[in-house]
Amino acid sequence: MSETATITIEGKEFVYPVIHGTEGEKAIDLRKLRGDSGYITYDDGYGNTGSCLSEITFINGEVGILRHRGIPIEELAENASFLNTAFLVIYGHLPGKEEYETFSNSIGSNASVPGDFSHHFSGFPNDAHPMAVLSAMLNAIGCYHGKLTSNNREQELEHFYKAASLLISKVRTIAAMTYRMRKDLPFVEPREDLGYVENFLHMMFHGEKEDYQPSAEEAHALDLFLLLHADHEQNCSTSTVRMVSSGGANLFASVSSGVSALWGPLHGGANTAVVKMLQSIHDSGDDGSQFIEAAKSGKARLMGFGHRVYKNYDPRAKILGGAAEKLMANMGHSDPLLDIARHLEKAALEDEYFIQRKLYPNVDFYSGLILKAIGIPVEMFTVMFAIGRMPGWIANWHELATTSSRIHRPRQIYTGKTDQHYVPVKDR
Ligand code: ACO
Repeated sequence: MSETATITIEGKEFVYPVIHGTEGEKAIDLRKLRGDSGYITYDDGYGNTGSCLSEITFINGEVGILRHRGIPIEELAENASFLNTAFLVIYGHLPGKEEYETFSNSIGSNASVPGDFSHHFSGFPNDAHPMAVLSAMLNAIGCYHGKLTSNNREQELEHFYKAASLLISKVRTIAAMTYRMRKDLPFVEPREDLGYVENFLHMMFHGEKEDYQPSAEEAHALDLFLLLHADHEQNCSTSTVRMVSSGGANLFASVSSGVSALWGPLHGGANTAVVKMLQSIHDSGDDGSQFIEAAKSGKARLMGFGHRVYKNYDPRAKILGGAAEKLMANMGHSDPLLDIARHLEKAALEDEYFIQRKLYPNVDFYSGLILKAIGIPVEMFTVMFAIGRMPGWIANWHELATTSSRIHRPRQIYTGKTDQHYVPVKDR
């Protein structure tokens, strides 16, 4: 007999199936609880709620494991490129030689935007936040591809390959255009002969920096940054993408809302917040010690530390910390903010407050220092995260679209006023 869990409510027993994941994760399937008993479960912030069954990414936050389609992030970081990882995350296996060529050619040939698309940028003030522009433009670019944005699931799934390649390619073009718009610089056409990252840096910096040519080390570090952000199971933005998609919305609309969800400082905006925090610690003459005390007393938050799922070192932070040091050594570049970050990390990992709460560096702790070294301005950091996360959003949209047709619709426990009556204005 399969395993069950029994819940006793008001003296009555209700029996529910237990679900086991392939990595030993356990859950009680309570979908019928309300119908059976009139009760719902309450889980503010969903910390204890499995919202879906998924085959894409596995995290064991207690020990610091992250795997995409079964492959450890360390092996991908060592051997794969961002595009290899994107293919793996979306299509479920590492691409063969031909599959990779077709995929990467499809991304290369989809980089340019329609001629009249550029004029949308002139409607924004120059200081518009790049995440606002990116979210709007991902929906806008969808308007040029009716079959991919019809909100007709069958038709969209038929054209999924095209939509996925197009988004992975164009998110990078739109990001570069946003940067140029903010600086009042002319847009730069993409070059099909360049790799994914090199083409992005070309569209960002060509003409702005004299004879701009990124070094192989810079291109590699940026590719690694994107790879390490490719997916991370049911985080705030990915859950948003699935939520929006569950209503039948197309891929472009769904990832556009993912960008909005990512923007906040507790999620993807943390990479920006970390560098601002390090800079202000540096400007105040502190080496991080005073800041640690402020974080412990609740007066400040150590950005880039802590995670809902990781109660151990985030493996991505470990890789990025090493990559930041290597990149700076290769560039002959030193950054006092890296020294402060290392000091903060050491002090926090030895401090009872952080030990007790299991607070470790997360992906955002070192990532901004890499972007800064490459010359990407701080206000673009979360956009860079969005470029990296695009494969994960796409894979989750596709998984939801092919495995579930139920709209996501949580319930609530109402705590407001009970039955009231309308009072005319004269009597208020
Ligand atoms: N600095 C100081 N104290 C912290 C920090 C931190 N960065 N993070 C958590 N704590 C403390 C909380 O104050 C709380 O203490 P208490 O038990 O005494 O009240 C305890 O640790 C638990 O923290 P919660 O906020 O309940 O943890 P939660 O899982 O809700 O939040 C989060 C996780 C949002 C990531 C949080 O750790 C945080 O704000 N970190 C800084 C922002 C950040 O780096 N975000 C990026 C996350 S990764 C990503 O989304 C890409």
